[in-house]
Amino acid sequence: MSSVTVWFIRCAMIYFLIAILLGLHMTVAGPVYPVMPIHVHFNLLGWMSMMVFGVGYHILPRFSGKPLWSERLSYVQLWTANIGLIGMAAGWVVKSSGVGTSVLVIFSVVEALSVLFFVINMMKTIKIAPAPAPKPAAVPIKK
Ligand code: HEM
Ligand code: HEM
Repeated sequence: MSSVTVWFIRCAMIYFLIAILLGLHMTVAGPVYPVMPIHVHFNLLGWMSMMVFGVGYHILPRFSGKPLWSERLSYVQLWTANIGLIGMAAGWVVKSSGVGTSVLVIFSVVEALSVLFFVINMMKTIKIAPAPAPKPAAVPIKK
């Protein structure tokens, strides 16, 4: 596996653990703000999307029989996905303390860019593979 795949899967596992702890916290304390959106996005952008990114980088080029269009863009995506998500969590904390939404907006854009980078890389990588040629029929050997 490439290191971008391994790091996406490692990050997904860590966000999953944190999201579940926040979920357990809300089970006891109720759906409080900003825990609620952080729980939701650590689960959906952290756990689920990052797992899909990591597995997608491994599997889709192989299914296509083509190398990944840009390794470099995949690393940029790894960083922007993490910076964006952690920044969004910080943005919700800042928003809940009444300071404003600018942190949330800035990091939401970073996160959205990371999704765009994944989409571009995958669109350039996947292709419709030609159907495999049929096997020639067995011809009996004349003696
Ligand atoms: C041990 C695991 C989990 C626990 C204890 C937990 C707990 C909670 C709690 C207490 C709430 C607030 C519900 C309410 O409105 O009263 C909530 C909301 C939510 N959780 Fe979890 N959760 C868990 C796992 C997950 C997972 C794995 C996902 C997604 C992959 C998820 C997605 C959501 C979403 C989307 C909401 C918001 C629903 C809404 O908008 O009303 N949760 N969770
Ligand atoms: C760039 C990506 C994303 C951004 C910037 C974003 C941003 C937001 C924001 C600002 C909210 C309102 C939270 C609040 O203040 O209460 C929200 C809510 C929500 N988002 Fe996202 N989101 C993104 C991706 C996603 C994805 C991929 C999913 C699902 C797969 C998702 C599911 C939800 C859900 C279920 C809620 C309602 C949560 C609640 O009830 O508190 N979001 N999102």
